[in-house]
Amino acid sequence: MPTYVAAIDQGTTSTRCIVFDRQGQIISQAQKEHKQIYPQPGWVEHDPEEIWKNTLEVVALARIKGKLSTADIAAVGITNQRETAVVWNRKTGKPYYNAIVWQDMRTADLVARFAADSPAGQDRFREKTGLPLATYFSGLKLKWLLDNVPGLREDAEGGDALFGNMDSFVVWNLTGGPNGGLHLTDVTNASRTQLMDLRTLDWDNDLLEAFGVPRTMLPQIRPSSEVYGTVQSEVLPGVPIAGILGDQQAALVGQTCFEPGQAKNTYGTGCFLLMNTGTELRPSTCGLLTTVAYQFQNEPVHYALEGSVAITGALVQWLRDNLGIIKKSTDIESLARSVDDNGGTYFVPAFSGLYAPHWKSDARGVIAGLTRFVTKGHLARAVLEATAYQTVDVVRAMEQDAGVSLRSLRVDGGMVINSLLMQFQADVLNGPVVCPRMTETTALGAAYAAGLAVGYYKNLDDLRQNWGVARTYESTMDDAQRAKLMRGWQKAIERSFGWEE
Ligand code: G3P
Repeated sequence: MPTYVAAIDQGTTSTRCIVFDRQGQIISQAQKEHKQIYPQPGWVEHDPEEIWKNTLEVVALARIKGKLSTADIAAVGITNQRETAVVWNRKTGKPYYNAIVWQDMRTADLVARFAADSPAGQDRFREKTGLPLATYFSGLKLKWLLDNVPGLREDAEGGDALFGNMDSFVVWNLTGGPNGGLHLTDVTNASRTQLMDLRTLDWDNDLLEAFGVPRTMLPQIRPSSEVYGTVQSEVLPGVPIAGILGDQQAALVGQTCFEPGQAKNTYGTGCFLLMNTGTELRPSTCGLLTTVAYQFQNEPVHYALEGSVAITGALVQWLRDNLGIIKKSTDIESLARSVDDNGGTYFVPAFSGLYAPHWKSDARGVIAGLTRFVTKGHLARAVLEATAYQTVDVVRAMEQDAGVSLRSLRVDGGMVINSLLMQFQADVLNGPVVCPRMTETTALGAAYAAGLAVGYYKNLDDLRQNWGVARTYESTMDDAQRAKLMRGWQKAIERSFGWEE
């Protein structure tokens, strides 16, 4: 039996390949960033061909670094930035247009129009899809592409144009591309398109009609863990592709949150809090999403409640790239530590509108509470605090929707190395924040899904054994201080609404 499993993590800012052993330890990894393309304010695109090239490079590099032959790899799992929409030609493999990234807001007008056409407004498709109408999901992005890219609709109706999220694009290319690539996705990614019925787990004719999407261009929907086919490209020839999960669902699996009520929060570009609700589909009345958590082979589907926050780590990058206040992202912590508190400043990073629990596409970023006293240290602090406040808002919504309070929050993702942030998170949450030993949970979740399908891991207990705590942060803040900070945040949030002309 080969000794390792590999994961390809096609994320918003980079593509990575990580190889894990049975204990979930990293054997080898490689990463490559891709270009963020901003053609207009509010628009965000990626070049799919650049991403595919990077995918091949990182897989090859991870193999070289680990001195691994293909025979060492039992299976590969794919995980990906969700919702990002790409269309390509079946015969040539060429994309018709750049991928429209999940954060992109070009469909704001469509959101308003679709909501106005129904008495349910933004909740028009919520019952069937678990999602409000928002610029975030793929369905409207695909409608925009079909309406705006010359020739695309004809090709789609004729069966030549294919749609997918990045998982489908990567799998299609890995399995042969124009020479017979597999066109499929998994239930978690499909649940983010707003085209799938959460109960039937199939594309829904009424939704396809409402969005004007021809069924012929859609991938086949499959469980998140099973052997779909084998890699045809030279980087991993013959290795089974055996897992696909949207990246936030992958982190839930990587954190081994298999019991109803278990939750994780991933701190990356944005923050995504998912709570496993078991086989029960739990509607939200507090601004969360109902979504698919995972479906293992021959098992029923598991659902989750999700609170998605668009901008958290991306705000640190913005401070670095657009304002130049810090040189490296990690410099934010020392800058924030140069002051005692936020100096009365709050930063609402509504760069893509506001997602959960507000769902306002007309919100825009604001910095509130400025006086001449405020320095870049206070600003750095306000940037970090914004991540924590947004998480608190989502946790409170989750507690109301689920009817239970979260005893502790399992965290992961790039920002958890920031101990100032993690301590502040515990303080404003008023509860323990638990960092696991392994924080690369996204790639790990995809590797787990693939490993389970080929018998590399025997069962979920195999995976649970790999999880362990590195550090727990407890709240040390008094109630009055916490209440004051949350009041300030609330006022700032209200000032971010209603900016769109
Ligand atoms: O829904 C968007 C999410 O999947 C993006 O995650 O880690 O690629 O920023 P990430």
